[in-house]
Parts: sequence; structure tokens; C-alpha cells
Amino acid sequence: AATVSLDMVLSNKEIAPDRISRPVVLAGGTFPGPLIKGNKGDRFKINVINSLTDPRMLRSTSIHWHGIFQNRTNFADGAAFVTQCPIAANDSFLYDFPVNGQAGTYWYHSHLSTQYCDGLRGPFVVYDPADPYTNLYDIDDESTIITLADWYHRPALEWDENTPSPKAEATLINGKGRCVDYKCDATAPLSVINVIPGKRYRFRVIGLSCDPSFNFAIDKHSLTIIEADGEYTAPLVVDSVVIHAGQRYSVIMTANQPVGNYWIRADPDVRGFPGFDRGRNSAILRYQGALVADPTTTYSSTRPMKETSLRALIDPKPPGSPVVGGADVKINLAHAFNFQTLRFEVNGVTYKDPKVPVLLQILSGSYTAQELLPKGSVYTLPPNSVIEVSMPGSSASTGGPHPFHLHGHTFYVVRSADSDVYNFANPVRRDTVNTGLEDSNTTIRFVTDNAGPWFLHCHIDWHLEIGLAVVFAEDTKGTKAHNSPIPRT
Ligand code: C2O
Repeated sequence: AATVSLDMVLSNKEIAPDRISRPVVLAGGTFPGPLIKGNKGDRFKINVINSLTDPRMLRSTSIHWHGIFQNRTNFADGAAFVTQCPIAANDSFLYDFPVNGQAGTYWYHSHLSTQYCDGLRGPFVVYDPADPYTNLYDIDDESTIITLADWYHRPALEWDENTPSPKAEATLINGKGRCVDYKCDATAPLSVINVIPGKRYRFRVIGLSCDPSFNFAIDKHSLTIIEADGEYTAPLVVDSVVIHAGQRYSVIMTANQPVGNYWIRADPDVRGFPGFDRGRNSAILRYQGALVADPTTTYSSTRPMKETSLRALIDPKPPGSPVVGGADVKINLAHAFNFQTLRFEVNGVTYKDPKVPVLLQILSGSYTAQELLPKGSVYTLPPNSVIEVSMPGSSASTGGPHPFHLHGHTFYVVRSADSDVYNFANPVRRDTVNTGLEDSNTTIRFVTDNAGPWFLHCHIDWHLEIGLAVVFAEDTKGTKAHNSPIPRT
């Protein structure tokens, strides 16, 4: 195993990815931030240098490596006020963590307030040189990353939290796009993915979204899903995929259509948001030999992905007994919007950042849910137990469907939002799940094999900011022991 060492400099800049200029918070000076990559087993030493100066956006920060388990390295999880205090301007923080037992498609983003909506988000890929499954699909090229992001023309701090959350003005695919306002430039450059006829590609599609889910498709091409959130799936052939904020998929696409240009589409679920007109919400798949021009292809989907059809490829049997409630601990998380306070609640409690990060509270000897702050938002979980969490859906009028992300784990989705049956045989494992609308009851299971305080929250960043979150404090007594510094080598 190697050590991947790098400095990540955070800075402010004005950029105009859709030809409308705005101030932003960037990692490495680009949007999206630079790709961080390494191999399974590598140790990552990422020194985040906070050079933020612009008072129109947050100047302190904290970076989360979304999907990385941080086993015994809780302090590197980057969730502000859960595992650390924010990194002040002109300061730096070394995130030093090994990635053991994981490979796949991840991402990183600011985990302080709504700062990542201002630009601090980027891809993170862990390769596995000894992967026995890579050859299963005879892929010619797996280097392509496709990031999907909502884009706003104003800094997130201008949002008054007592008003509806901001509406995205553009969809950026790999950092480029055409915004939707009539004043916007319908000829702004789009990202181009170049392919060679006959070759087979693995595309890693990453939902860097602050809010919308995206319906992703490539005109005239079928897609074989092989990975969800860093976990291999049994191959599933579809022609469109809904990607919620925080989710990732690897899809295999064969360049088997006539040489030409084809729209790559990422249509956001924002009402009143103009669709694919003039290349909005799109990028271009361009075959070698095609003219440099916008595509003229049209969209049709006859085989959309169903979440309930996703299966884990490896070890697909969830822990516990194969009946509803057949776990050691059963937790129901009912979320709702409180129209008096204009905040979200989980089981009646609005999450608010504690003054002292939860990890520090635990390391200082607070071990019980009664002692841990924020009061009512911290759930303690015993070690080595099967946990079952059910999350009823909510109505579209309260901002649903909400994609919930759990730090520190992937979990088995034994019931997905688009199904009313439970799958105790071979459900998908992932780290971010759509919890659907009324009548759904998304249910997940995992084993508490990773001591630490783990955030569980809606990945719509505007919703996290107004309280749609809890903390699972797993094995609080073990957390202290498990947080001894990793050995210096
Ligand atoms: Cu991708 Cu708690 O976040």
C-alpha cells in the first residue's frame, strides 16, 4: 500500500461555468474540485489549507470524504460539529486515514452548513488493482467520471432559512452547462465525453447535488449498472437512472451506435425547470469521427432503473433474521416539516449543531443518549449488533423525496422506496438511499462494527441546514479506544 499525500488548497474565485459570473468556494481552484484517487489499502494524507477570504461565503470549513468508512479514524470524517470543529480561515487540517476494504466511486465535499452548494465538491475514486470483478465486464476504459451538479447564481449565505430553499439555475455536468433563464447563453460550451466506436466504457456517475435528483440517460444507449455507492451490484441493464444527492453509480456503456453526437442527459426533478431544450441539463457523447456539433438525438426511456431491482453482487444476504424487525435494535425515524418553526424534525426533534463536536463529547466521557448533545438527536447503538432502521416517506409538499446518507457504513436496503415488499435475500448495499414519498417505508440494516458518531441526514443540503438529521453514536465506549492515532509509518 502507498501513501497518497496532497495539499488541498481552498480558495475563493469568480467563475462562470454557465457564462454567469459568481463568487465561489473551490478546492484546488476548479469546479468540480480535482479528482482524488488511490488504491484500496492506501493511506490518504490530505492537508486541507484554508485560504478562504471572501465574507460573502463561509470562511471556515470542514471536508467530508463521502462514503469512506473512517474505521478508527473518526476524527477524519469531516462532519462539522459531529467529528470536528470547523477549520478556521488561514488554518489547515490534516485528514489522515487509510482506506481499507473499500474500493469504488466516492466524492468529497464541505460538510459545514451549506458551503458545498458554493462549489466545494469533487470526485474521489478508490481503485482495486486486485479486483476480481473488473474483468467480468471486459471494459476497455474506466477512466471517465461524470459529475452532476446543481448550480446557483448566488452564494448560499444569501438564503434566508425562513423562506423556501433556493432553486438551482443550472445543471452542470463535469462543471459545464447552460443555465435556464431566458437571458442565459444557449451556446455556452458543454462537456464532451469522447468515445471510440466499438469500445466498452465504465462511466462513474456522481451525484454532487445540493438538492435535485437527476434522471440520467445517454440517448440511444443502454447502461449496465455495476456499482452503487462503492458496492458492486449484480449487473442491471437500464436506459435511465435516477441519481439522488450524494449517490453514485458505475454504468457500462458500449459505443455501439452509428458515429455521431448523442445527448448525455441529467434532468433535475425541479418543477418548472426547463428540460433538455437547447442542450440544457446536458453534455455530449461524441464518437471519434463525428462532427463537432450539438447532438440532435431525442430522449426515450423504456427501461428506467427501479431501485428495488438493484442487488448486491457480493455477500448479498443482510444480517439478522429474514423478517421485518428481525434485528437486535429497531429504530423508526419519522421525519416531518414543522410549519410553525419552518424547520425539519426527526421523531419530533430539529437537529442543531452542538457547540462541542459529538466525538469530543464522547472522548470526554459522555456515553449515553441522555448526556450527549444535541439533546434528542443522538441515538446510541450497541456494538456488534444488527440495526434495522425504517424511514417512512414524506410528501412532496414537505420537500420529499429525501435522500438519507449514513456516515461510516454501507447498509442493506431491505425495502426500497419504490417497493412494498421486503428483500431479505439479496438487496443492494449503499450509503445514500432515497426515502420516497407517502406510503413508502424505506428500511435498512447494518451491523455496528465501526465505533464512532455517524451522521445520518438528508443529503439535500438545504434540508440538513434546517435540521433534517440525527447522529448514530455507535459503541460510545469503544469509540475512545478506537480513536487512538493511527500508527505513524
Ligand atoms: Cu456527503 Cu454527511 O455527507
